[in-house]
Amino acid sequence: MSGITVRQVAGALGAEISGVDLSGTLSDETVAAIRRAFVEHQVIFFCDQSLTPAQQLAFGRRFGPLNIHPYVAGMDDHPEVMEIIKEPSDKLNFGGGWHSDMSFLETPSIGSILYAVQVPEFGGDTLFASQAAAFEALSPGLRKTLEGLNAIHSAEREYAPTGPSAQKRESMKISDAEGMAGRFTHPMVKVHPETGRKALYVNPAFTMNIEGWSRRESKPLLDYLFQHSKQEAFTCRFSWRPGSIAFWDNRSVWHYALNDYHGQRRHMRRVTVDPLPV
Ligand code: SIN
Repeated sequence: MSGITVRQVAGALGAEISGVDLSGTLSDETVAAIRRAFVEHQVIFFCDQSLTPAQQLAFGRRFGPLNIHPYVAGMDDHPEVMEIIKEPSDKLNFGGGWHSDMSFLETPSIGSILYAVQVPEFGGDTLFASQAAAFEALSPGLRKTLEGLNAIHSAEREYAPTGPSAQKRESMKISDAEGMAGRFTHPMVKVHPETGRKALYVNPAFTMNIEGWSRRESKPLLDYLFQHSKQEAFTCRFSWRPGSIAFWDNRSVWHYALNDYHGQRRHMRRVTVDPLPV
């Protein structure tokens, strides 16, 4: 009854949704159908949309409260909307490594909604990797071990004064996290609250060590998981056009913004959905 069509795009995750204009007021039925596709497919894509920042905010708010990023300033009049920009002269891009958004917070976000304003003529795709599929592909023994472990997450490396984000500060209003980034503990295996499906919840950008283990002790197991989790069989790839949207589930998906379009401009807007307060 919602009128939307859902087309799966890859084996492990990803679906394209058509038959809906996200700029208007959506019925509860349509939002419920989008939400079902989001939790089932882990990342959903919409094409040929046209959203103002206010319309993107309104769409995002249908799924939960919106996050204000602690280190990346939002738009002046819409602090929840982050502008992700790579200028032609920039060498590095934002999000150019596997990660899940906001795992460095005490209460990580549930999803991110990224809208393409301007895209390069070629390149600039985003990769996604299902951490549920990655978890399910591990041996029963390792799955059981990981289910008993927690890991420490922090923004202290990524947003350090000399960290990877420092070189993007001009284009993106990024501040450094020196002395501000907390360390928060999350289970290494997250149980999805809506589907019950289990997913690995560690990532190379923000996971520092396994709780109770030193960084040196943690590294071999974390490195193994980071290699395992990005295997092609767990991924899908999205090529952007202006007006495209990707909406991914940060509880079970990693993503990676490819940096293969040097000399061209790419401009995206992101809103990030928090869980409902308990
Ligand atoms: C991000 O990590 O949120 C950015 C992804 C992208 O620009 O494709």
